[in-house]
Amino acid sequence: MTAVLGKDLVGLEYLSPDQIRLILDTAEPFKEVSERPIKKVPALRGKTIVNLFFEASTRTRISFEFAEKRLSADTVNVAASGSAVQKGETLVDTAKNLEAMRIDMVVIRHPSSGAAQFLGDRIRSNVVSAGDGKHEHPTQALLDLLTIRDTHGRIAGLKVCLVGDILHSRVARSNIWGLLKLGAEVGVCGPATLMPRGIEELGVCRFRRIEEAIEWADVLNVLRLQLERMERGFIPSLREYYRVFGVTQERLERAPRQLTIMHPGPMNRGVEIDSRVADGSHSVILAQVTNGVAVRMAALYLLAGGRPELADAAKGPAGGANE
Ligand code: CP
Repeated sequence: MTAVLGKDLVGLEYLSPDQIRLILDTAEPFKEVSERPIKKVPALRGKTIVNLFFEASTRTRISFEFAEKRLSADTVNVAASGSAVQKGETLVDTAKNLEAMRIDMVVIRHPSSGAAQFLGDRIRSNVVSAGDGKHEHPTQALLDLLTIRDTHGRIAGLKVCLVGDILHSRVARSNIWGLLKLGAEVGVCGPATLMPRGIEELGVCRFRRIEEAIEWADVLNVLRLQLERMERGFIPSLREYYRVFGVTQERLERAPRQLTIMHPGPMNRGVEIDSRVADGSHSVILAQVTNGVAVRMAALYLLAGGRPELADAAKGPAGGANE
């Protein structure tokens, strides 16, 4: 059967609203699997998945690995350090050699924008992006969408503002595509030096002051300042950034409504977000992490040709769809 998502998942730009909704709906029955004493279902038994992480990651790498193991797939982890990449082997040669060992899927995180698509176009296995350069981080946006839907009961009509380093953020790009496709209003707020030129053309509204964004939004998704991607001085200092754009308790107390607070992690506490906000009662930051496993289970299941209407049965320990 042809997978309903196509062969690869490299960005939300390339998915229809129905495909995005399908992944979120398919994640619902998988949430419960992680709450069981034995967190394992047979949905991907016999499938082999390689996790190629060429850039640092905690949440995404571990979450994909949990998702794969909970679906009973066999997994292998490859990092750039310690692999033949260090000897100059190309990405495609690495992947083709892995394919020669009869793998089914590759999950890839790579510092270069477009690396996931590049690989997907050259190998037969399904390719799932775990974040490529400044391009997209599709499963992060999917877990963000699921968390917003869980918290508010809907996505359409909500006002969601992405705050901070929009320029370097693949999370921002994927969120913008996903939120707009599902009918949210999207805002962006950050220093002019960290705002891509012409961002409004994507259909988002831009706020120059954090106070205006807080007054407008139902949800703030606070982004990490990606200091490792900044070759030159984009901001005067971290202290200055926090003073002007920091999401602080004092600023939120002046908001006309309670805002849901999100952050994809890793957080720079005291730089883009106040610890009292990150750990406060309106923060759903850890719920995002929890949802990451279910969303990745859903994406892997659908890419492998799993039938959405059987996702509920597929989570059963016996008699599952792929038993
Ligand atoms: N949100 C996210 O991508 O975190 P990691 O870099 O830890 O995977």
